[in-house]
Amino acid sequence: MKSLPFSLVAFFLPAVVISGYELVQDYSGISFFDQWDFYGSWDNLTLGDVWWLNRDDAFKQQLAYINSAGNAVMKVDNTNTVVFNEKRASIRITSQQAYGVGSLWVADMVHIPFGCSVWPAFWTKGPTWPDNGEIDIMEAINLMQSNQMALHTLPGCFQSTPANQMGTSGELDCSQPSGCLVTETAPNSFGQGFAAAGGGVFAAQFDVAGIWFWSRPNIPQSILQSTSTSSLDVSDWGAPSASYPVSGCDITKFFTAQNLILDITLCGIWAGLPAQYLPACGGSGPTGICYNDNVVGSGSRYDDAYFEVKYVRAYTTPGSGPTPTAVAANAASFTPMTSSSSAGPTLSQGGALHVHCLMIALMISLTMMFAMLFL
Ligand SMILES: *[C@@H]1O[C@H](CO)[C@@H](O)[C@H](O)[C@H]1NC(C)=O
Repeated sequence: MKSLPFSLVAFFLPAVVISGYELVQDYSGISFFDQWDFYGSWDNLTLGDVWWLNRDDAFKQQLAYINSAGNAVMKVDNTNTVVFNEKRASIRITSQQAYGVGSLWVADMVHIPFGCSVWPAFWTKGPTWPDNGEIDIMEAINLMQSNQMALHTLPGCFQSTPANQMGTSGELDCSQPSGCLVTETAPNSFGQGFAAAGGGVFAAQFDVAGIWFWSRPNIPQSILQSTSTSSLDVSDWGAPSASYPVSGCDITKFFTAQNLILDITLCGIWAGLPAQYLPACGGSGPTGICYNDNVVGSGSRYDDAYFEVKYVRAYTTPGSGPTPTAVAANAASFTPMTSSSSAGPTLSQGGALHVHCLMIALMISLTMMFAMLFL
């Protein structure tokens, strides 16, 4: 008579002991900016014509704030006049926490910056560049229509082909200046199209460095149903946009723990290069020079140069062993408990969190009752 009750317990347990990716950090709502550092320098990395404000100035000048929808906004100054030889204020934030191999990052964005001279990125790096690796999850310039993904490393790391991915590979050597580059093929991954579709979700798995993008209408159920406290089962994600199999790159050798970065620069050593700038934007101003025609002046060219982010979430695999594929295969068919359509960060997040905890407590209690009754 013991076998039936035992199988009942075994059946109920997976609903509580959730496998898959476990949430480590949720950046959203009014506390979005609490655990990021603001750069506080000019763009001395990509030589863009911006001054990345420190935290105090960012809030004071209203270039970083939480909007009425509860989303985090980071923007280029579009109201102050910049005179020749000066730089324009913008934002660059770096997560205080670094995330090791095995991590997963998911970012839901309503809007990403675009326009002539504009160069936004959502990326990761270790303490030393490029020795500790860099993952570009979202990066594009000027009037591009598509996101570009890349890894940057010391020599010896490649994207192996054929990779199981939806995007189009370019450079395969991750130590080259472009990094090992993959261009998104799904529509609306950048620019006006991204905004018009209501944005979308970018995700990156740090152990196999797969990068995904879904335009708003295509976001998978697992992500739509995820909350600021729930775990995440990635089994409905499909093939990534960019895939970097370990056969081409030993991730643990070329990457240390990574900090997340969101930034917007202007011109600089990519968007401002004549070879990049002129074909797309050369005719958009009197001089054909990125800085002169955009950065200098009233700032009215930067009305679209802002991030609006619903959330950034960091997850980890429990323990250090299983690959994401193995985790997905073993994952229970767990359905997240909260499926409200306002699963994104809202000002009522505290309440939702409370209900969520109660439900988990209730499920644990029920399972323990089953265990006590039958064992
Ligand atoms: C850039 O500026 C920051 C802040 O002042 C400084 O910590 C960093 O070392 C500088 N980096 C370079 C490459 O000069």
